Amino acid sequence: MPAGNHGHHANAPHLFEGWGSRIYDRVARWPLRPLYARIAEDMADAAPDGGSVLDVGTGPGVLLAEIARRRPDLSLTGIDLSADMAAAAQGNLSRFGDRARARVGDVTDLPFADDAFDTIVSSFSLHHWDHPEAAVPELARVLRPGGRLYIYDARSAPFDTIVATARALAVLDGRPARRTLIGTGLPVPWRCARHVMSAP
Ligand SMILES: C[S@@+](CC[C@H](N)C(=O)[O-])C[C@H]1O[C@@H](n2cnc3c(N)ncnc32)[C@H](O)[C@@H]1O
Repeated sequence: MPAGNHGHHANAPHLFEGWGSRIYDRVARWPLRPLYARIAEDMADAAPDGGSVLDVGTGPGVLLAEIARRRPDLSLTGIDLSADMAAAAQGNLSRFGDRARARVGDVTDLPFADDAFDTIVSSFSLHHWDHPEAAVPELARVLRPGGRLYIYDARSAPFDTIVATARALAVLDGRPARRTLIGTGLPVPWRCARHVMSAP
């Protein structure tokens, strides 16, 4: 079983490696699918024609698969700290060929060029980030001017750390940030928070 990068992180790595990743993959592909469909509808509306989308903490990549089905014109990339999750995602995305890929990566050290993405999305990963404040400059760096960042998570996730760090660094302050509660399509949790920020 691949070791992944989680060995250096304290934040529940066992959940996302080995058996944990295989169980999560099954749950994501079936009971959680309405959640990804809901978020994919947002992304299908938000991403520009022919745009590039990054999913941070993609897990088994089911959200990207839902986006790929709706928007064949987009170039989709997933990253995950867990090598097992990235491998599961790559398997789930293989039917989309070159237009959807997954790889290992840490949100605090993104393996991409500056301004590489039009849209960044992240679902239910923020509350697992060891250093959310260190994620902010990286997310801002790879998001092109005018691009948007969408973070979905439980209301208790450290959204305030993201906002405060962005304010301190004067990044991701292009449009007023918006936090709204949205339905998940699931019985539990039936709502989650969606936070939208943009690069100036
Ligand atoms: C609860 S899962 C969510 C997966 C998927 N986005 C979803 O909505 O089902 C959280 C994921 O975030 C990943 N993760 C945690 N810390 C990360 C980091 N620093 N950088 C990238 N991914 C991270 C974990 O490995 C895990 O796959």
